Amino acid sequence: MGGLLRAREIQGTEIVVVPDDESGQVDVGALESMLDERTRLVSLTHVPTQGGLVNPASEVGRLLRGTSVLYQVDACQSVGQLPVNVDEFGCDILSFTGRKFVRGPRGTGMVWASDTALAEMGNPAGVDGWGADWTEPMTITPHDPARRFEPFELFFAGKVGMAVALEYARSIGVDEIAERNRKLSSRMRQSLLELPGVTVRDKGRELSALTTFTIEGHDLPAAAEQLRKQGIDVSTSGQLSARLDFPDRGIEQVVRASVHYYNTEEEVDELVAAVADLQGPGAAG
Ligand SMILES: Cc1ncc(COP(=O)(O)O)c(C=O)c1O
Repeated sequence: MGGLLRAREIQGTEIVVVPDDESGQVDVGALESMLDERTRLVSLTHVPTQGGLVNPASEVGRLLRGTSVLYQVDACQSVGQLPVNVDEFGCDILSFTGRKFVRGPRGTGMVWASDTALAEMGNPAGVDGWGADWTEPMTITPHDPARRFEPFELFFAGKVGMAVALEYARSIGVDEIAERNRKLSSRMRQSLLELPGVTVRDKGRELSALTTFTIEGHDLPAAAEQLRKQGIDVSTSGQLSARLDFPDRGIEQVVRASVHYYNTEEEVDELVAAVADLQGPGAAG
């Protein structure tokens, strides 16, 4: 969102927020009715940071196919846990990070862009001697197509680490990972739902491995810290990450527990028991 808001500051770009449908995913019908000749870009977060929602990226792509609107997908939370295919999504730009479900090194990420998008994007402000040749004393000639976005100096070890992590995920099988994660996260959601005072906050028709919940009467960062002390790695998401979502739903914070394929059913049960203990002995009843 920061990049879009910066474009708004610099160029006066108008940002129009597409509402959710009744399930909580992006309302594709509403999006269709909002598109007009001024629409340049549709930006979709496939899986948001603050909940288990999986947005219908392919459906949005089908709507935009054949239009001149650029379609950008943030797949930061989905690559590594779900099948992600730029042809199926029909997107022009897709980005993801190495440090989440890909299990790659921190400080790495990848942006894919279609030839159409690259042609439209022009030259980056920070182009250097790798992205462009200094062809005349006062002239640079940018390289085509994606290289002009790369800096001369790169984090090569990180790049190798990212490639190895992606190969590793593929060797396990992305469909198998997604299936296993579905089982583990629905086990967690089902069990959490049974705990008094605990509300599972995930919305949408399709859910990912991210599971979010609130615990009545608890300071959630403190609860997360307590769980971490017991070796149960959870985090929290707050309004700083969810300005277009949490305020409308009256949510300040959620605890976020991300399962991945290597987790066991026992670990999921351990987490649920530890959350029940936060509520006091016998709360699990
Ligand atoms: C949906 C989504 N997009 C983008 C980001 C930013 O990731 P990074 O800091 O690796 O660029 C995050 C991080 O939490 C995220 O959840």
